[in-house]
Amino acid sequence: MSEFAEDNALDPLPDPFERDVESTLRPKDLHEFVGQPKVREQLELVLHGAMRRGAPPDHVLLSGPPGLGKTSLAMIIAAELGASLRITSGPALERAGDLAAMLSNLVEGDVLFIDEIHRMARPAEEMLYLAMEDFRVDVVVGKGPGATSIPLDIAPFTLVGATTRSGALTGPLRDRFGFTGHMEFYSPQELELILRRSAKILGVDLRPDGAAEIAGRSRGTPRIANRLLRRVRDFAEVRADGAVDRAVARDALAVYDVDELGLDRLDRAVLGALVRSFGGGPVGVSTLAVAVGEEPTTVEEVCEPYLVRAGMLARTPRGRVATASAWLHLGLQPPEGTPGEQVRSLFDDPEG
Ligand SMILES: Nc1ncnc2c1ncn2[C@@H]1O[C@H](COP(=O)(O)OP(=O)(O)OP(=O)(O)O)[C@@H](O)[C@H]1O
Ligand SMILES: [Mg+2]
Repeated sequence: MSEFAEDNALDPLPDPFERDVESTLRPKDLHEFVGQPKVREQLELVLHGAMRRGAPPDHVLLSGPPGLGKTSLAMIIAAELGASLRITSGPALERAGDLAAMLSNLVEGDVLFIDEIHRMARPAEEMLYLAMEDFRVDVVVGKGPGATSIPLDIAPFTLVGATTRSGALTGPLRDRFGFTGHMEFYSPQELELILRRSAKILGVDLRPDGAAEIAGRSRGTPRIANRLLRRVRDFAEVRADGAVDRAVARDALAVYDVDELGLDRLDRAVLGALVRSFGGGPVGVSTLAVAVGEEPTTVEEVCEPYLVRAGMLARTPRGRVATASAWLHLGLQPPEGTPGEQVRSLFDDPEG
């Protein structure tokens, strides 16, 4: 565990209790699912089209940073189809046999959810190609020259894959998904809606200005919004009268080292190292990770997407570069020629 993990309010799923709370806050159907209008509309068409034809829908890939609702959407897909959901993950499918067992137990119409699908071992992945395309697997029996492969039919199913790194997926696997939903960071307004719903479920007296304050510091991420709400609730109950307004939210988030932009200690450590130790970069992500004592994948998949989105960090072919906004956010004067002037708003078109 890194020094950031222990008391980090933003650490993904720190304990089983938090995980339980997270599941009570999960949206149960497409109407409860706030935001992602594009993915929702596209998905609705895919699902309803298939339902009209009475066939399982195409395989669905959901990609995007952690905590944006991929697992929630997978559950919703199964619920909308009235199908059962089987859940596994890339790292759990180490051997092709693990996947074969999972696939041969499927019932027609089942939804198979593979989380972190980019981390699946190669032999399992190759087995999955055939399963996705032809609803068939080849099970190899025996070893060496005497080995034979026995084709096995599997029930038509829908695969829902989730990944925080769609770039890490092999081409053949990506091509076998009929639909890919790219999850975007949420706007503060969408996060406020999510917070209001969560507050109702948790019985928190959340005032509109309190919701706005938390939403603005949630890094565009529902999971973080919900987690900050719980931390602010603790503060409100222990140090105030229980109501969460702007002042209470501000004081509480200061205790948890969450700044006005929602950056936490690890985000600031990454920016701080980039700026102070490497003069703003360019520096490779693994060097940067060592400098903050974290895994490169954590820096790359958890911190960077939002720092890039917020316009504070740029990924260049030569390495990571701090923008002028990053220097200014740390209270430092950017050197001459530092790229980027302004923090980009969440609403700017990423392609624009
Ligand atoms: N669109 C949404 N509307 C309401 N709540 C949401 C939404 N998306 C996510 N949440 C909340 O955020 C939590 C985290 O979402 P979820 O587990 O689906 O994210 P994820 O993308 O699967 O993350 P990871 O990549 O870490 O697995 C959920 O428990 C839910 O409470
Ligand atoms: Mg998930």
